[in-house]
Amino acid sequence: MKNLVVLISGRGSNLQAILHAAQQQGWMHAVRGVISNRADAGGLEFARAAGVPAQVVAHTEFPSREAFDRALAAAIDALGGDIVALCGFMRVLGAEFVARYAGRVVNIHPSLLPSFTGLHTHARALHEGVKWHGATVHLVSNELDHGPILAQAVVPVHDDDTPQSLAARVLVEEHRIYPPVVRALLEDRVVVDGLRTRILPAASER
Ligand code: GAR
Repeated sequence: MKNLVVLISGRGSNLQAILHAAQQQGWMHAVRGVISNRADAGGLEFARAAGVPAQVVAHTEFPSREAFDRALAAAIDALGGDIVALCGFMRVLGAEFVARYAGRVVNIHPSLLPSFTGLHTHARALHEGVKWHGATVHLVSNELDHGPILAQAVVPVHDDDTPQSLAARVLVEEHRIYPPVVRALLEDRVVVDGLRTRILPAASER
């Protein structure tokens, strides 16, 4: 199994879902560390409580995106990370970083990509009047929120939804779909063909 480093910027509920799955399924040994670009990220405490090394690499301490990305890469490599999972990591990673970890950085985005890339996805979905919304797990590429899609989950939009109520419904699905994809990457079960992907069944399911 490969090794995982998780990047966060805040609450860390997707990190919690991954750590919970790792604990339940016996792959905590693969989780090498958590890195936050913000010292006040709630997920840091949760990681430490779960016995996972957690550190801060603050983007504010670097003069450029490239310098921050290089410090981040050094921290990931020092932890022995093969796969990097972004869990609400709210910094855009530069081309050098993306090339260095090509096919090894996975992100979860709170919309049905390619709809609603970027920020404020739930408010924008309500504004556009879509009837279905959701979440997407994808590999990170140079185009923001546009890499090969690994998993998606769909939720209905209700007439009385607010951005908050819709976000809460989507978040439940995020926590369900993200951990199995991370595990598949760690077990080298992801096949990528252009933008199309397949996840092979786990050894126990074959
Ligand atoms: C999640 O909803 C995630 O999809 C979103 O940030 C939230 C983080 O929550 N990510 C993005 O918007 C990335 N573009 P969490 O810290 O509780 O996992």
